[in-house]
Amino acid sequence: MVLAIVGAVWAPPRAAAAKAPRGAVVCGACHKPIRLDWQRSAHGTSWSNPVFQAFLAEAKETLGSAIQPKCIACHAPAAHVSGDAAVTDPISKEGIGCNFCHNITAVDPSTKPASYTHDPTDANLMRGPYRDADPRRAHNTVFSEIHTQSAFCASCHSAAHPRSGVIVESTYLDWTRSQAARDGQRCQDCHMPAAPGKAAVTAKKIRPAVSAHRFRGPRSEPAWLDSVAAIDATTEDGRLKLEVSNRAAGHALPGGGNSMRTIALDVVFRDGNGDSLSMMTAERFGTEFSDADGSFPAYKWIAHGVARATSIPPDSSRVVWCDVPAGAASAEAVLTYYPIHPAYLPMLVARGVDLSGRAPYVMARARAELR
Ligand code: HEC
Ligand code: HEC
Ligand code: HEC
Ligand code: HEC
Ligand code: HEC
Repeated sequence: MVLAIVGAVWAPPRAAAAKAPRGAVVCGACHKPIRLDWQRSAHGTSWSNPVFQAFLAEAKETLGSAIQPKCIACHAPAAHVSGDAAVTDPISKEGIGCNFCHNITAVDPSTKPASYTHDPTDANLMRGPYRDADPRRAHNTVFSEIHTQSAFCASCHSAAHPRSGVIVESTYLDWTRSQAARDGQRCQDCHMPAAPGKAAVTAKKIRPAVSAHRFRGPRSEPAWLDSVAAIDATTEDGRLKLEVSNRAAGHALPGGGNSMRTIALDVVFRDGNGDSLSMMTAERFGTEFSDADGSFPAYKWIAHGVARATSIPPDSSRVVWCDVPAGAASAEAVLTYYPIHPAYLPMLVARGVDLSGRAPYVMARARAELR
C-alpha cells in the first residue's frame, strides 16, 4: 500500500517523455484560443511571411547566403537553437513558436541581437506567468519572471547592427523612455491584453488574467491605428502649423520596423470653391538608415548610419510648418501609415510578392480654415 503511493508520487508525468519541441497543433489541443490567435500573428508567420522571404532573398543576394543564420536567430529562432540553418524542420518553419518562447530562461535586455537564453534540455518544461499552474500531467511548468516583463521582448525587439553599431530594432529602448514604462505598463499589457478565463480547456481554474497571443500590431489589427495619433491644425503668422502627437504607443511612432515602415503627413490646399490648388508631403515620420554610400532608406542589414530620425517620441509630438499658397482657403492634412516604405515596392513587385494586407492606412485627418 505504502509502496504504491510512493510509486504514484515518483512516476514521471506521462508527457515528460517528449524530448523534442512540439508544434503548435499539439499545444492547441488544450490551448486552442491561444493557438488560433498566435497562428495569425506576426510571430506565427514570421518565417512564412512572403514579404520577409523577399527581403531575405534580397539580403542573400547582396551579402551572400551566410547572412541567413543571422536573420533566423529572430525570425525562426527554433531553427537557430536546433542548428537547422536551412530551416527544413516543420517546427522551424512555425516561426516564433510556442515551445520556443516557453523554453526561454533568461534575456539580456541590451542591444545584443537575439539575446535570449534558450534551454534545450527539457522541451517539456513550460516557463510561464503562473506560480500555481496545474497542467494535469500535460507537461511540466515553472514560474518564470522574465515572461512577465518587457525585457522578455527585448531579446528580439532591441538590437544593434553588429558592425556599425546602428540601433536597428529600437522598440524596447524607446519604451524604457516612455511614461508607460514609468507607470509599469509592459509590452504584454498593450500587445497581449488579458481577460479572465481558462488558460487551457483542461484547466481546473478560471484565472483573472489570461494573456491574448495575437501580439496585436499594425499588421494584425490595423484599426488600432485609429486611436494612436492626432493632428492639430492651426494657423500662425499666415503659415499652417501641424502638430502630430503620439497618443497611445508606449514607444516611438512608428514603434519599430525602422527603415522599413513610414508614416506620411500629406497636405492638400483648396481654394474657396473646394478645388485642389496644391498637394505636398509635409513630413515623413520614422527612422531611415543610410548605407555605406549614404543612400537611404537602406535595409537594416546594411545600416551604416541614420539618415533620418523623425519618429515621434513617446508621449510627445512633432510640429511641421507649411507655407500657404496664394488663394488657399482651407487645408486638409492626412496622416497615413505605410506598412512598407514605398521605396521598396518596385523590388517587391519585381519579385512577385503578394502585397495583400499591406495597404497604406489612414491614421488621422485634420482641417484648417485659412481665412
Ligand atoms: C513571443 C513569445 C511567445 C509565443 C510565440 C507564445 N507565447 Fe505563450 N506567453 C508568452 C508570454 C510573454 C506570456 C506571459 C504573458 C503575461 O505575463 O502577460 C505567455 C503566456 C502563456 C500562457 C499562460 C496563459 C496566458 O495566456 O497568459 C500559456 C498557456 C501560453 N502562453 C501558451 C502558449 C501557446 C500554446 C503558444 C503557441 C500557440 C504560445 N504560448 C506562444 C510568450 C509567448
Ligand atoms: C493535454 C493538455 C495540454 C497540452 C497538450 C498543452 N498544455 Fe500547456 N497547460 C495545460 C494546462 C491544464 C495548464 C495549466 C493551466 C492553469 O493552471 O490554469 C497549462 C499551462 C501552460 C502554461 C503556463 C505555465 C505557467 O507556469 O505559467 C504554458 C506556458 C503552457 N501550458 C504552454 C504549453 C505549450 C507551449 C504546449 C505545447 C508544446 C502546451 N502547453 C501543451 C494543458 C496543456
Ligand atoms: C524570438 C524573437 C522575438 C521575441 C522574443 C518577440 N518578438 Fe515580436 N516580433 C519578432 C519578429 C521577427 C517580428 C516580425 C515578424 C514579421 O514581420 O514577419 C515581430 C513582430 C512583432 C509585432 C508586430 C505585429 C504586427 O501585427 O504588426 C509586435 C506587436 C510584437 N512583435 C510584439 C512582441 C512582444 C510584445 C513581445 C514580448 C512579449 C515580442 N514581440 C517578443 C520577434 C520577436
Ligand atoms: C501603451 C501601450 C503600448 C506599450 C506599453 C507598448 N506598445 Fe508597442 N505599440 C502600441 C501601439 C498603439 C502600436 C501601433 C502604432 C505603431 O506602430 O507604433 C504599437 C506598435 C508596436 C510594434 C509595431 C511597430 C510597427 O509599426 O511596425 C511593435 C513591434 C511593438 N509595438 C512592440 C512593442 C514592445 C516590444 C513593447 C515593450 C518594449 C511595446 N510594444 C510596448 C502600444 C504599446
Ligand atoms: C534582433 C532580431 C532580428 C534580427 C537579427 C533580424 N530581424 Fe528582421 N525583424 C525583427 C523584428 C523585431 C521585426 C519587427 C519590427 C516591427 O514591426 O517593428 C522585424 C521585421 C523584419 C521585416 C519586416 C517584415 C514585414 O512583413 O513587414 C523584414 C523584411 C525583416 N525583418 C528582415 C530581416 C532580415 C532579412 C534579417 C537578416 C538580415 C533580419 N530581419 C534580422 C527582428 C530581427
